[in-house]
Amino acid sequence: MFELRDVDAGYGGTAVLRKVSLAVPPAAVVALLGPNGAGKTTLLRTASGLLRPRRGDLLLDGKVVTRLAPHELKRKGICHIPEGRGIFRSLSVRENLQVQCAGKNEAAGLERAIEVFPKLGQRLKQIAGTLSGGEQQMLALARAYVQQPRVVLLDEVSMGLAPNIVEEIFAFLRQLAADGTSLLLVEQYVTKALNIADYVYVLNRGQVAFVGEPSELGSDEIFRQYIGVSSEQSDERVFA
Ligand SMILES: Nc1ncnc2c1ncn2[C@@H]1O[C@H](COP(=O)(O)OP(=O)(O)O)[C@@H](O)[C@H]1O
Ligand SMILES: [Mg+2]
Repeated sequence: MFELRDVDAGYGGTAVLRKVSLAVPPAAVVALLGPNGAGKTTLLRTASGLLRPRRGDLLLDGKVVTRLAPHELKRKGICHIPEGRGIFRSLSVRENLQVQCAGKNEAAGLERAIEVFPKLGQRLKQIAGTLSGGEQQMLALARAYVQQPRVVLLDEVSMGLAPNIVEEIFAFLRQLAADGTSLLLVEQYVTKALNIADYVYVLNRGQVAFVGEPSELGSDEIFRQYIGVSSEQSDERVFA
């Protein structure tokens, strides 16, 4: 179980998250929704150690890991796929995957990545920055996958991609979840996110406004109140 407990976080003089508690149980998919500027990215950055909380703690299996550096949290299995992908654009596809394996069984890691995204296998020598947007995102996801993480934090990974690629990415996320990896999913395709989620948190102005199961968020009223759209519209990218 990975948890944020009573976390306050922000930038300089700006408070963003206020008393946020959120739990990602083992093998669960947690959707994190909320309007633009609610603090979703800030929450993921805090969860991966990039941003130190001002108050409160991060806990992994009940142990406080608040003061660990990002690479230490990564080693413990917390993997963050940031907004804008976080790949090395000037390295080849192969090198991007190898860096991620960090000396551990590179061949097996490459094989794992290619198995899940065969397209990457055909482009191992290509410089990552010259891949299409969809291929870059697949590479970012594959980099997470080769580490066999426990928890993957995903920040709008379908942003700006063609619908068929979004489908491919969601199929991958479903598989990752079925394999027992926990996901904390920030996503503009609300309905798609809710379809694979076990739990949903709605963040509003840096505070948790709703926590429950997706079915409880089914009513249009709750949708409008917390997310600002009706559920019928939610198949589209509502937080663009
Ligand atoms: N680097 C930063 N410095 C100062 N304020 C920031 C920074 N990044 C985000 N913010 C502010 O924090 C709030 C939450 O932003 P963010 O976490 O990106 O929200 P979301 O991902 O839900 O759209 C916004 O008001 C935003 O302007
Ligand atoms: Mg964001």
